[in-house]
Amino acid sequence: MTEIERIYLDNAATSWPKPDSVYLAVEQTMRGNGAAVGRGVFGDSAQATQIVQQARHEVAHLIGARSDSSVVFTNSGTDSLSTAILGLLKPNDSVVTTAAEHNSVLRPLHHLQQVIGVELKIVPCDETGLVSTTDLVKSIDENTRLLVINHVSNVTGVVQSIQELIAAAKAKQPELIVLVDAAQSLGHLPIDVAELSCDLLAAPGHKGSYGPLGTGILYLHPDIVDQVAPLRFGGTGVSSGDIQQPMTMPEKFESGNLNAPAIAGLLAGLKYLKTEQAKAGKENLARCSELLLAGLRSIDGLTLHLPKLIDHRIGIFSVSVESLDAHEVANLLDLTGQVQVRSGLHCAPLHHRQMGTFERGGTIRFSVGRFTTATQIERAVKVLQQVSQPLK
Ligand SMILES: Cc1ncc(COP(=O)(O)O)c(C=O)c1O
Repeated sequence: MTEIERIYLDNAATSWPKPDSVYLAVEQTMRGNGAAVGRGVFGDSAQATQIVQQARHEVAHLIGARSDSSVVFTNSGTDSLSTAILGLLKPNDSVVTTAAEHNSVLRPLHHLQQVIGVELKIVPCDETGLVSTTDLVKSIDENTRLLVINHVSNVTGVVQSIQELIAAAKAKQPELIVLVDAAQSLGHLPIDVAELSCDLLAAPGHKGSYGPLGTGILYLHPDIVDQVAPLRFGGTGVSSGDIQQPMTMPEKFESGNLNAPAIAGLLAGLKYLKTEQAKAGKENLARCSELLLAGLRSIDGLTLHLPKLIDHRIGIFSVSVESLDAHEVANLLDLTGQVQVRSGLHCAPLHHRQMGTFERGGTIRFSVGRFTTATQIERAVKVLQQVSQPLK
């Protein structure tokens, strides 16, 4: 029996495959180094520390941070968001966020609303996930301390006018602290924290940056660091004689042994992003997205949840198949042709309410990566056509 090739179209959850250099870096760090970061004076430990410093430098460079020490390594995008939100907010603080957010924003905010009485306002988004500047500005007043907003929707791939939104929000409330969730944009779109004028930026390292799972980054503007308490306390490899948590960056937020192999993999992913191969991969991703869109449009009985301005999106597409449950379709796609997609609410329940897809259990999400091929897209479309055929 010939084995069917796996068609991975869940790159918005985590990118796969990774560049070969990423696998190699993880393995080399585990086998050839294996030492703890910032903990020893011997050569291998110093080398592990150097790898992490290089990775920090690459992240800082990628997001336009002035200082490497403004970048903290975490375990995931969720970990970065929780570190920022739980560390910053105090009882009775007023926060504005949007209906387009992921649960890794909504849940910590909801938790703080319940536990310490944080006041939470949720600005609606349109059905594609876009937030209007007018709605956002209306919800902000002189008491608003924090705005949490995503850059790109993980449901529709729509790109927010993030710079314009932040500028308008800060014009209304100059003291406002802004946290950007760049989970779906880091590595895909240019990001400059100074241009964005954001105070905090959270992202995973395992999606558009092509690092391994278990990596995340949090940027903190130097002026905000004192206002954010650490989430975790413990050994940092510095100031070990003092039982007080160091307040220096990045140690303040990096207690415990760092995941050196994964960070080495992330460093390889970040270096890959600067290569000609990655540039070609980006063009390929755009071509595959167009091909997928044309294919989806050619299938009867599908509803496409597309951004109105088709250029304002990355390679994420949400669709519904008439009268079929999203999980059922995803299951059939896998069983019939090993087409691997995400189905359901994609951890964005409020967005699905705005889209009118909440009650029916969400959508089927296809997300393309730099290594997706045109042949895979053609096959995925054929399989989708086949599994949605009985409806006609
Ligand atoms: C918009 C958004 N924010 C946050 C996250 C959480 O990232 P992680 O999966 O690394 O925890 C995701 C993950 O899909 C996301 O899409």
